[in-house]
Amino acid sequence: MQLHHFLLAAISLAVTVQSFWLGDIQHQGLAPFAGANAPVFRNVKDYGARGDGVTDDTAAINNAITTPGNRCGRGCASTTTTPVVLYFPAGTYLISSSIIPYYFTQMYGDASSPPTLKATANFQGFGLIDGNPYWTENPNWVTTNVFYRQVRNFILDTTAIAPATPATGMHWPTSQATSLQNIVFNMPKGNGVVHVGLFIESGSGGFMSDLTFNGGATGASMGNQQYTMRNLAFNDCGTAIIQLWNWGWTYIGLRINNCGKGIDISANSNGKQEVGSLTLIDSTIINTPVGVATAWSSSSQPPTAGSVVLENVALQNVPVAVSGPSGTVLSGSSGSTTITAWSQGHRYTPNGPANQIGAIAPNNRPSVLLDGGKYYTRSKPQYESLPASSFVSVRSAGARGDAAADDTAAIQNAINSATSAGKVVFIDYGLYRLTAPITIPPGAKIVGEGYPVLMAAGGYWSNVDNPQPVIKIGDTSGQAGSVELSDFVVGTQGSEPGAVLFEYNLASTGTPSAMWDVHTRIGGFTGSQLQVAQCLKQPGSSTVVQQCVAAYMSFHATKQSSGLYMENTWLWVADHDIDDNANTQTTIYAGRGVYIESTEGRFWLMGTASEHHVLYNYQFSNTKNIFASELQTETPYFMPTPNALVPFKVNTSLRDPDFGASCSGVAGNCAAAWGLRVLDSRDFVIYGAGHYSFFSSYSTTCSTVEAGENCQSRIVSIEGSSSNINIYNLNTIGSLSMIDRDGRSLASWQDNVNVYPANIAVYRSG
Ligand SMILES: *[C@@H]1O[C@H](CO)[C@@H](O)[C@H](O)[C@H]1NC(C)=O
Repeated sequence: MQLHHFLLAAISLAVTVQSFWLGDIQHQGLAPFAGANAPVFRNVKDYGARGDGVTDDTAAINNAITTPGNRCGRGCASTTTTPVVLYFPAGTYLISSSIIPYYFTQMYGDASSPPTLKATANFQGFGLIDGNPYWTENPNWVTTNVFYRQVRNFILDTTAIAPATPATGMHWPTSQATSLQNIVFNMPKGNGVVHVGLFIESGSGGFMSDLTFNGGATGASMGNQQYTMRNLAFNDCGTAIIQLWNWGWTYIGLRINNCGKGIDISANSNGKQEVGSLTLIDSTIINTPVGVATAWSSSSQPPTAGSVVLENVALQNVPVAVSGPSGTVLSGSSGSTTITAWSQGHRYTPNGPANQIGAIAPNNRPSVLLDGGKYYTRSKPQYESLPASSFVSVRSAGARGDAAADDTAAIQNAINSATSAGKVVFIDYGLYRLTAPITIPPGAKIVGEGYPVLMAAGGYWSNVDNPQPVIKIGDTSGQAGSVELSDFVVGTQGSEPGAVLFEYNLASTGTPSAMWDVHTRIGGFTGSQLQVAQCLKQPGSSTVVQQCVAAYMSFHATKQSSGLYMENTWLWVADHDIDDNANTQTTIYAGRGVYIESTEGRFWLMGTASEHHVLYNYQFSNTKNIFASELQTETPYFMPTPNALVPFKVNTSLRDPDFGASCSGVAGNCAAAWGLRVLDSRDFVIYGAGHYSFFSSYSTTCSTVEAGENCQSRIVSIEGSSSNINIYNLNTIGSLSMIDRDGRSLASWQDNVNVYPANIAVYRSG
């Protein structure tokens, strides 16, 4: 008997598949402002879900989301105080109505064995996962204010629902700092099926990657301001993608196979096109009659809507590559062919507008940005091959994360000891005060538990004339190596006007360093002491509240640094208070957004955004080899009261813009944040950019076509010896000039009117 048991135990040990570390580690995440009994980490099985494919788990899963804790559900605007990381072990979870992730909920399946959410035959609801329910006539959360949420590692299965019964895999109208990763949408196939995999009707995204859509009438039906979507596969869909509306959208690495249509951007309403622009690169379309369906013609309205740029798109048995309102615009092939590069829309090369359609020379791709001819890409690691013992918790190392204790030493110790032992640092959820810089050495791997926050605090960074890093990646000695960082936020607690939130110093000449879903958030959250109480907007007043001069710069890549892949990074100075239930606007000042002065360059900015910094949102100087997709910015809403001349002094060693002499003779609000400024740099390949200026002293009347798009004078500048700067689908809003070269406007918005932005399909500096 004993022996028998022993043998069974040995056998079961041998076949035990290692479970996902996230389920196994000690769960110590703590939300300091959530009140008692509000665990951050929740395993749905601890809340009664069975995952046996038989039991209806809907109520148990939703219960794990909504209780306990003061979660942000119906009627709640948004929150940072009640985070939940909801974990699904492997299994099949039968559901009969929508799973509704409340605000600030992360839904993670086991990465090594993704769980299935399987709809019952009589499923009711708008999405197996409904990310923003219509409890009233509007989505519960204002779609442009839905931040900080992820869903990853799932199979969403609607195959038990009758093919002709409407069904949606996922409803996801959200905005910046959100992501979907590693999700399979399984739907019935064939004629008469009406299921839709992913539905998005609005918002300001965003990023998603590694999704597969099988079957359905439509794989993904989507409208949103802008997006980068990468590595999506569509098999046997009626239409792979229907674009409901957009300003700009960049697809990288699509694989469309055996669908009726590839990407349909022909949406029209009252004779006006709804879709602004489309950028599609490094993709494959197979056995699909029409690759891209558009409504663009030389007389369609608005004039530049429906702009398209294709580059490196391989076709196999795709007879029509691009169709227009009167038939084939670009022929495909019944065999194999590759579209090297092609565009329709306005070209400035560098002067324009030339209203053209047809083949273009492809970008001269810097080889150091490529992997087998395509751009290098890298999905967020989930470390699924590692056991729980490979992770070092900062809380176990003594950090408190209560927004009060000084956690500097504990976090630095955890980073040092984990890295030297080849382990991964786990930042349990919390708000961690740092009172001195933290250094991340080469080799470090750091992953957060649902966006923990590291805050510069206590005055170390109080001198605006002596900027210092908060998170220093590599030291300044020319150190080589690379790091992997994911899922955390860096901010300040109160005014730290000398704080440079990230300083990237590493020379990552081999494997690039990488950051995924790592953000800055300057003010606008509980614990930041930069909220409505301190920094309420004062429209029309130029008086600076010193307490709200929060930071010097969000991200600095120094001269000796190189080789960094940033994916879905959002550098945000809060325009509103997330923890105020009216989302009341705030005036908070941070000097500079992203500054890259790496002499070797080699940066990938995959779906990054930088918003509301005073002097500029992105500035590049003496650098090269820069890839970007949907590079997105917003000018601070308070400008021009005050304008960009205050409160930060020009630092010439950082090549700050001065808005002094350079503004003389320029009409309109010249002293306003640059969206993008490129100085003496070369070899940029920017696939989609959206530079927006919506406000003048908190009023949006300046950003309409009727008002003449005059919130600010200029927004993109290419200067000095810069060369081979290429931008596809440049969209601007609220700026008189769309792009300047050495102080001279190259393009005015009136010449390039699009759905709401103005659009240039192809810009080349020469
Ligand atoms: C200007 O920037 C440099 C480089 O970061 C820094 O060393 C210097 O202290 C700054 N000067 C002032 C006055 O802010």
